[in-house]
Order: sequence, then C-alpha cells, then structure tokens
Amino acid sequence: MNIKNICCIGAGYVGGPTMAVIAQKCPEINVTVVDINEERIKAWNDENVENIPIYEPGLPEVVKEARGRNLFFSTDVDAAIDKADMIFISVNTPTKTYGIGKGMAADLKFIELCARQIARVAKDDKIVVEKSTLPVRTAEALKNILDNTGNGVNYQILSNPEFLAEGTAVDDLMNPDRVLIGGDIDTAKGKEAVDALVDVYAHWVPRERLLTTNVWSSELSKLTANAFLAQRVSSINAMSELCEKTGADVNEVSKAVGMDSRIGAKFLKSSVGFGGSCFQKDILNLVYISKSFGLHEVADYLEQVIIMNDHQKRRFAAKIVQTLFNTVSGKKIALLGWAFKKDTNDTRESAAIYVADYLLNEQAEIVVYDPKVKTEQIYADLDYLNTRSSEENRARVTVVDGAYEATKDAHAVAVLTEWDEFKELDWQKIYKEMLKPAFLFDGRRLLERKTKEDIGFEFYAIGS
Ligand code: NAD
Ligand code: UGA
Repeated sequence: MNIKNICCIGAGYVGGPTMAVIAQKCPEINVTVVDINEERIKAWNDENVENIPIYEPGLPEVVKEARGRNLFFSTDVDAAIDKADMIFISVNTPTKTYGIGKGMAADLKFIELCARQIARVAKDDKIVVEKSTLPVRTAEALKNILDNTGNGVNYQILSNPEFLAEGTAVDDLMNPDRVLIGGDIDTAKGKEAVDALVDVYAHWVPRERLLTTNVWSSELSKLTANAFLAQRVSSINAMSELCEKTGADVNEVSKAVGMDSRIGAKFLKSSVGFGGSCFQKDILNLVYISKSFGLHEVADYLEQVIIMNDHQKRRFAAKIVQTLFNTVSGKKIALLGWAFKKDTNDTRESAAIYVADYLLNEQAEIVVYDPKVKTEQIYADLDYLNTRSSEENRARVTVVDGAYEATKDAHAVAVLTEWDEFKELDWQKIYKEMLKPAFLFDGRRLLERKTKEDIGFEFYAIGS
C-alpha cells in the first residue's frame, strides 16, 4: 500500500515537528497538519519561519524546506481527514481534572472527539495512527467508535508512540533509537497497514530500528519508557539529598555509577526536579491503570517516582528560605529560567512554577528571566495553580528581558533551567550589583562552585 496523503490532527510539540520531518524526508507524500487552534495554525503558517509556535533547534530550517511543497498547516480538519490515506492522532492527553480518575487517569476526550470526527467524515478506508501517548488498550476503544458508524469504511488502528524529547526533537526524529509500530500483525490487512507505516519511516530510518509489535505492547512500551526515564531522575535526586548530608557529590556519584555499562550514563543528572508535560502525566496514568487492575504494589512503586520529584522541588525552595535566615518576606529573588529544560519554550510542569509558588507563599518578590518563555505564559502558569489571585501574581512577579536586570539588587539568585547562556554570564558583575550576602542557588548543577565562591557568592548547588 502506497501512502500519498497523510493528515495529522494536532499541531503541537509532537504533531508539528514529527510531520515536518516526515514531509521533509518523503517529498512525494502530502502531509497536512490540522488543529482547532486557529492562532497556532496561523503561527505555523507565518511567513517568517522563526515565528512558528514552537521553539526547537533546527525546526525552522525543516519547515522552510517542506512548507508549501508537501507540508501544509490548516484548520480545515474535515477536508484533511477526507483526503488522507493515513491519519495520525497527535492531540493532547492531559491528566483528568474531574470525575472518575481525577488527578491520575489520562483524559481521552480529545482522542474520542477525533475518532468521532474521522468516523463522520471518512468515505474510504483509512489507517488511523495513535501518535499521542495513550493508556494501554485505547486502540480497542478507538476501533469500537470507528467500526460502529456503519458507513462501511475499513479502519486499521496502529500505535506509533513518539519518543522525541523537546529541545532535541529534530535530532531525535532524524536519528531515532527506534521507531515503534504496533498493529494487528496477525491479520493480512493489519500487516499491510503496519508495512505502509514502516515504508514511510524507511525513507530515512534504517530498517533494523523499525520495531513492530502488537498494539498493546506498543501502547504500554511508551508509558514504560517514560516511567523508567523519570525513575532514573528521581533515583539520582534521592541520592542528591543524601550527598548533601554526607559530603559526597552527586555529579561524582552519577559519573561513577553511570560508567557501569549495565546502568549507563544518561539521565543521571540531578536537578531541581523533572518537569515537562509527560513524565508525571504518564506515570500517574500507569498508577491509575495498575490500581484499576488491583495491582496496588505496582501502583505504589511507580507513584514514589512522583513523590520524590515533588519533594525535590519543595526541598530546593525550602533551602532558599532557610538559607536566607528563615525568611524571604519582601526579599527579591531572581529566577533564571522558567522552561522545564533548556532549548524549549515549553513550561508545562516546569519545576520553576512550583519553586516560584512556594517562594510567593513565603511572601518573596520574584523576578524571572527566561530566554524563550513569554511573559504571559509565566503568569498563566502561576494563575493555573490557583494559589492566589491573578492580580497578586502580577503584582508580586516581574518578568524581565535579561539576566542582569533580573539579578540587580536581588537578595538571591536561583538557576532553574540549564540554559547555556547562564554559564557565560558575567557573574562578577552580577555579584557586584546584588545585595550582600549574595546567595546563589544552582538547581541544575550548571555553574562551577569554585569560581562563584571566589567571587564571593554564598553558593548552594543541588547534591553537594
Ligand atoms: P500539545 O498540547 O502541544 O498539542 C496538541 C494539539 O492538539 C493542540 O494544539 C490542540 O489544539 C490540538 N487538538 C486537541 N483536540 C483537537 C481536535 N479535536 N482537533 C484538532 N486539534 C485538536 O501536545 P503535545 O505536547 O504535542 O502532545 C501530544 C501527545 O503526544 C500527548 O499525548 C503527549 O503525551 C504525547 N507526547 C508528547 C511529547 C512532547 O515532547 N511534548 C513527546 C512524546 C509524546
Ligand atoms: C521525555 C522523554 O525523554 C521523551 O523520550 C518522551 O518522548 C517525552 O518525555 C514525552 O513523552 O513527552 P521531555 O520531557 O521532552 O522528553 O524531556 P527530557 O529530556 O526527558 O526531560 C524531562 C525532564 O527531566 C526535564 O525537566 C529535565 O530537565 C529533567 N531531567 C532529565 C533531569 O532532571 N535529569 C536528567 O538526567 C534528565
């Protein structure tokens, strides 16, 4: 089966970059990315390719090459579904905020809406690909909705979870460790659909990295991968607290441990806590699924990863208060970084949000600088917590355009995102312009202790 037209529903952090790379690598396939968010689509179509809605190194170049040739962004969801042989569903699957499973289960209402829309519009056979991260066995529900429309269309459902990380999305997509495709491999039609998607990726991914499984293994592997990655971060963060008590240094411990080839060196960097839209959401989802099967020990085991992460964020904020003579009331604290990691403008579940909220509860005055995050986003993140009124958030938090402006006259500076530019700052100048004693808190192990202490800073870094 030769795929000629692809539609992707959801032009977000996954849909946008993934489809841009598919379009670039498969010039003979037309790729249309659709979204109900008009503003987002408008930004994807912005003449100046630097204004696309997602900051991701290397992405503007890819979009520039393919957009208008075989890559299109549109709000006409029906038309794109109608034309497509293959439809990717790449909409958000956030944690439920209401009803059964509130605070744990994945909210699948956007997925279901897509399925119903496909069922309503489709007139010929379609391959529907789950790109969003979904609870295991979601494909069953999708198939049920699609097959019960009675219009005689044949649907094949594939699971093709995405493993890209933000900030390195283009590299991850161009050179993936593996591409996972789950399908109904025991039937001829199912196998044909799997092969069709394999052929798309085979344009640039070596065949041996294209892994095919049954649908349930594919769905569950995605959640498992995120749980394992997050678990490593929580494990090293647990050690970071022990390091601080014992004189060990968490960077040295992680290097020593990571050199064991059975353990491996990646994802052992201690931090103020992991953020991002997925780790917490996906683990909570696994916790919920495990509980719903009565697997309470499994659920408890996984939940500890989140408990540790919450503790790490709180512990870092508490350290600031404690070090500043047990009060930050009325004190100016500069936060460098708001994104959940460097090289992205995404702030979802960023540790910075929680550290700021904690300090605001202690009546601190907060000044934030982040190279890529917009001011409105920072206020929206704080408002979303609902801890205080939005007027108060605006009165107590100032967002500025540069690190020197943020740190001038501050009692303390906290590095919350590991942006490269923070390493290159003139720390001598920052020290000079701060109130004394000048406290510097490194939540990312980004800065070198000795040079900062030589300047005169009172320096605290996670895990040492
Ligand atoms: P996102 O919120 O950035 O994008 C989702 C988009 O879907 C939004 O623009 C929204 O308007 C659109 N949408 C929702 N319902 C729609 C509908 N019915 N019709 C048309 N458009 C609709 O989300 P994201 O970060 O791209 O994540 C999408 C999925 O991919 C999630 O399941 C997530 O867990 C998974 N994932 C995310 C990442 C990541 O790095 N962000 C990586 C791997 C997997
Ligand atoms: C993560 C996974 O790495 C991707 O494979 C997955 O596709 C994605 O989630 C998803 O499903 O959404 P992402 O959240 O974009 O990607 O970024 P990561 O690089 O995994 O970082 C997540 C968080 O962990 C960040 O806050 C980061 O600073 C933190 N982290 C990461 C650490 O604190 N230490 C580390 O050693 C690694």
